[in-house]
Amino acid sequence: MRLYAGLLINPLESNFSKPQLEYLPDGCLIVNDTGKIVFVGTLTDASVRFADTQMERFENAVIMPGLVDTHVHLPQYQAAAVGTGELLDWLNTYIFSLEARFADEMYARTQSTQFFHDALSVGTTTMSVYCSSQHKATDVAFEEAFRAGIRVCMGKTMMDFGAPQNILFSAEQNITDSLAIAKQWHGTDGGRLQYTLTPRFAGSCSKELLTKTGEIARADGFRIQTHLSENPAELRYIASLFPEAASYTDVYHRTGILTNKTIMAHSIYLSREERVTLKAYDCAIAHCPCSNRFLQSGVMALRHSMSEGFRIGLGSDVAGGYSLSILNEAREAAESSKTWNILNRGQEVPTITAEEALWLATLGGAQALGLDDTIGHFKAGKDADFVVVSLENLMPRETVFSSHSNLVSRIVYGGAATKVLRTYVRGKVVYRAA
Ligand code: GUN
Ligand code: ZN
Repeated sequence: MRLYAGLLINPLESNFSKPQLEYLPDGCLIVNDTGKIVFVGTLTDASVRFADTQMERFENAVIMPGLVDTHVHLPQYQAAAVGTGELLDWLNTYIFSLEARFADEMYARTQSTQFFHDALSVGTTTMSVYCSSQHKATDVAFEEAFRAGIRVCMGKTMMDFGAPQNILFSAEQNITDSLAIAKQWHGTDGGRLQYTLTPRFAGSCSKELLTKTGEIARADGFRIQTHLSENPAELRYIASLFPEAASYTDVYHRTGILTNKTIMAHSIYLSREERVTLKAYDCAIAHCPCSNRFLQSGVMALRHSMSEGFRIGLGSDVAGGYSLSILNEAREAAESSKTWNILNRGQEVPTITAEEALWLATLGGAQALGLDDTIGHFKAGKDADFVVVSLENLMPRETVFSSHSNLVSRIVYGGAATKVLRTYVRGKVVYRAA
């Protein structure tokens, strides 16, 4: 067993209409040898019950649950912070050719290794990943995630039209490959690695492929991840492909893609009917605010979706988003909620606070992925996935604004000044700053 002492920040198990954090200034987390939390509380209480436990104390730092990235594209990492243009042009100009390079196994491996290392270095302990469309490269990504010690839900990106031939496969091949990879990896290492069925979006998956995906997901209980309602030109493209559907959401509804384990990225331009349908199936939303600005997609009505009770996590959407940092996404989630108000004067809603954004980045993400029984906040019995963040560069000396909520605000808004010292998954160090 090991004892970690310091200032603990713990997201409360509240729901999305009232996300809150709890602070334990003299806090303590005790983790057993299998990586499970056995105690959360004050150091004073712990020292009575766990007197002989080896202790590690973090000064001028906070201990908080690991960050959850609910939407990210591994083969796009090279393009992070590069390029311009809106979604469909951007995919054609920069992205599809990058994804094709994953046919080279060596390249796929070096990219995967760096991707997971860099995610851990910014405090991400769980990721919902779109791999490339190749079977072998997806296998390699699982091997590297296994090695890196990170927690993932991920899958081979399925496409059978609407992209260059060299990254397309038939509907049947996509399904066969996905099931083979899932058979090999789903549930590995006590569930640390899980398979997610990953039809890219309605713009590159036939009805046949979507329908088969929905059938398998419902029969075998897999998660599904896809994109929904991201960009105006994309909406027109989808409407032209599926004239019989009442809406973008209806394309997924008709093909059986909507389940309570479906994670919809973006979901910006939804009608009332679409929201009702998605809510009826309890689909989750991966909100990707950095991407939404980088690709000029739009401003999502985050407060409205939270008030309606949607399960929402934050996603980097690299390379639509320009970095793997979920703290960057938390900051942008708060800021873009202000942009929404600026664009909707007279209908303003409460903006997203830094504390709420950090809640979304941790427990919110865990709930969106259906992993909140295992991760997302500190509680005895859950897995010890956590990060230690230094406060060293974040506070002026003799700080005037010294409340805990101001501290969280500085962590969220700190950008490069917010330094992750250590990242742990199941109590094991998976990243240590130099
Ligand atoms: N829609 C379909 N594919 C993609 C992708 O790779 N990134 C983003 N942001 N949206 C998509
Ligand atoms: Zn995406």
